[in-house]
Parts: sequence; C-alpha cells; structure tokens
Amino acid sequence: MKAIRYHETGGPEVLRFEEVPEPAPGPGEVLLQVHATGVNFADTERRRGLYDTKVPLPRILGSEAAGIVTAVGAGVDPALVGRRVVTLTVGSYAEVVKAQASGLVLLPESVSFEVAAAVPVQGLTAYHLLRTVGQVREGQSVLVHAAAGGVGVLAVQLAKAAGARVFGTVSSEAKARLIQELGVEEVIRYDREDVVAEVHKRTGGRGVDLVLDAVGASTWAGSLQALALFGHLVSYGSASGPPPPVDVEALFAKSLKVSAYWLHTPHPPGLHHRALEELVREVAEQRLRILIGLKLPLAEAAEAHRRLEGRETVGKVVLTVRSPESPRYRLSGK
Ligand SMILES: NC(=O)c1ccc[n+]([C@@H]2O[C@H](COP(=O)([O-])OP(=O)(O)OC[C@H]3O[C@@H](n4cnc5c(N)ncnc54)[C@H](OP(=O)(O)O)[C@@H]3O)[C@@H](O)[C@H]2O)c1
Repeated sequence: MKAIRYHETGGPEVLRFEEVPEPAPGPGEVLLQVHATGVNFADTERRRGLYDTKVPLPRILGSEAAGIVTAVGAGVDPALVGRRVVTLTVGSYAEVVKAQASGLVLLPESVSFEVAAAVPVQGLTAYHLLRTVGQVREGQSVLVHAAAGGVGVLAVQLAKAAGARVFGTVSSEAKARLIQELGVEEVIRYDREDVVAEVHKRTGGRGVDLVLDAVGASTWAGSLQALALFGHLVSYGSASGPPPPVDVEALFAKSLKVSAYWLHTPHPPGLHHRALEELVREVAEQRLRILIGLKLPLAEAAEAHRRLEGRETVGKVVLTVRSPESPRYRLSGK
C-alpha cells in the first residue's frame, strides 16, 4: 500500500509518498480502507520534531480516518466488514490503516467520508474544550482564538449552540466573513485590532468567561487580560510557540482559573466514543457545519502542510485516498 511517511524531521519536503507494508489487524482491531484522512496542525509539529518526539522514525502521520472496514481481528464482529466508519487512529495518511473496533463510529449515508474525516480530532477537541473542560453555559461569553481554523470553526458553533456570546479572533477579512457566516457576533481582526481592548469595549469592561487559546506565546498575556472575574483560560496548543509559565500570583486579583486540555490524555472509558457519535449525529442532522477549506489527494500531503502552516487554510484540511477497488466510492462519490 502507499502511505505518507517521514524518515527525518524537517520541512514539508521530508514527507514521502512511498510503498509500505500493509498492517494486519490484531485482537480487537479492524483494518480500514481509508477514503479520507484529516490533516491537523499537530501533524506539522510532529513532522518538524516539536511534538510527540519519542515515536521512532520512519513514521506514518495521521490521527483520524474515514473509510470502509475490510477485515477484522480476533474477537471483532465480522459483520463490521463493509461498513462505513470514522475513527481516531494512528498512521492514517495511508491507503489502509488499523484501528480499535471499540472506537469506530458508523457513518450515516448522508455523511461523506471527507466530511467525516473532519470530525474526530478537531471535533472532539472542540467538544471537550467547551463541554468537558470549559462547561460553557447559556449566557456566558467565550473568546476563541484562530476562530476560522479547524478547531475554531467547530468550537464557535458548539459555543453558540450552548447559548454563549461568541468572540472570535482572525487574521484576515476572508476569515472574518467566514466566522460571521457561522454566527459569530463579535469578530476581532487581531492583525489590526487590540484583542483585549476590543473585548473590554464590547463587554462594558467585564471581559469574557472563557478563553480557548491554542496560539500560545503571542496570545497568552492578552487571553488572561481578556477574562472576566472568575474567568477560565484553557490552553490547548502553541501554534506561535509555548506560552510562558503560569504566574499564580497574577491570577488572584480576578480569581482566575488556567487549565490545559489534551485529546490524547486517557479519557474516562467510552467518553470519546460517545462524543464522536454525538458529533457525527449533529453533522448528519445539519446542526454542526463542517467546512472543508482544502482537499488534496494523499500524495500531496506536503502541500497540505505548507498551506496549513502558512495560515492559508480555513476549516478542515482533508486528504483523499482514491481506492479504485471500492465500488461505493465510484457509485456515491463519497
Ligand atoms: N490539545 C489538543 O488535544 C489539540 C487537539 C487539536 C488541535 N490542537 C491545537 O489547536 C490548534 C489549532 O489546530 P488546527 O489543526 O485546528 O489548526 P488551524 O486552527 O486550522 O490552523 C492554525 C491557525 O492558527 C492561527 N495561528 C496563529 N498563530 C500562528 C502561527 N504562528 N503559525 C501558524 N498558525 C497560527 C492561524 O489562524 P489566523 O490566521 O486566524 O491567526 C492558523 O490558521 C493548534 O495549535 C493545535 O496544535 C490541540
């Protein structure tokens, strides 16, 4: 089978589209014929050697796949073969990937593989940021940095659905228009507006209840200053570099809370699966919009990385894997 691997860390050019051995499903696992896989900012950080550095090279990138089950390992219901599914997994920039059977979510016919591939990493992250960690409630206010990005467009929709007033920061007019279309009332062009001043101006000096910050170094101080009394800042990434160490003394004046969220922390059993099922249902029922900002064939993963790192993308970046042996692909166009 073909896959995207890197043998040494570096720029997008280290990604090679090459022949690799096909995996075999172990007990409790299935084999998936991948139709679409998502690209995530963390993939670019792994490739650069900034994140997840203990995994030996060469390594196949990718953390999520949508496709068709083609084989099952010991202890897995053979009736799964032929089913359309989506899941978190490892090594999904490939024509075939292994996955845990317990993590599979069945796809309704109305949800295409490409749309489904946008959901696991960014959808679950947005879900847990707002519901599990942030516990956003109706009437609260939420500031989402990089609101037009993959996690961002889902986070603003989930925050709106919870009844929050949503503030979103973006770096361009096109990104601003996009999040306005998603219902964000308070768009802040941080390339030309002062985020803290805008938040305080638009909240009558109160600030916001929750800030979701994965930009890190360049936004951290402002994120703290934008909080209301008893406000909560959740750090979940560092696109611009790691944030400074937390100065607990500085939190006292407004009784602030700072926390962190990581998708790969061991979660309570079944939580990811239930959340992914819920997100896929919301997508199928058109209550959650998936925005695919860039779609490229698997072989062009390096170009996908270049554009994601270059801040050129909005919403989800998806790699498609055309599998001529799959009649479903040809018939339905999914
Ligand atoms: N903790 C977790 O488990 C978890 C899970 C998923 C993602 N994440 C993190 O969430 C963030 C978003 O991930 P994503 O995959 O959805 O990517 P993304 O938001 O689609 O892309 C990154 C965006 O960040 C903004 N940005 C600000 N400073 C940047 C910089 N110095 N370099 C590049 N981009 C910069 C850009 O938007 P503007 O042009 O509007 O500034 C850019 O479009 C990443 O930091 C990622 O590591 C964390």
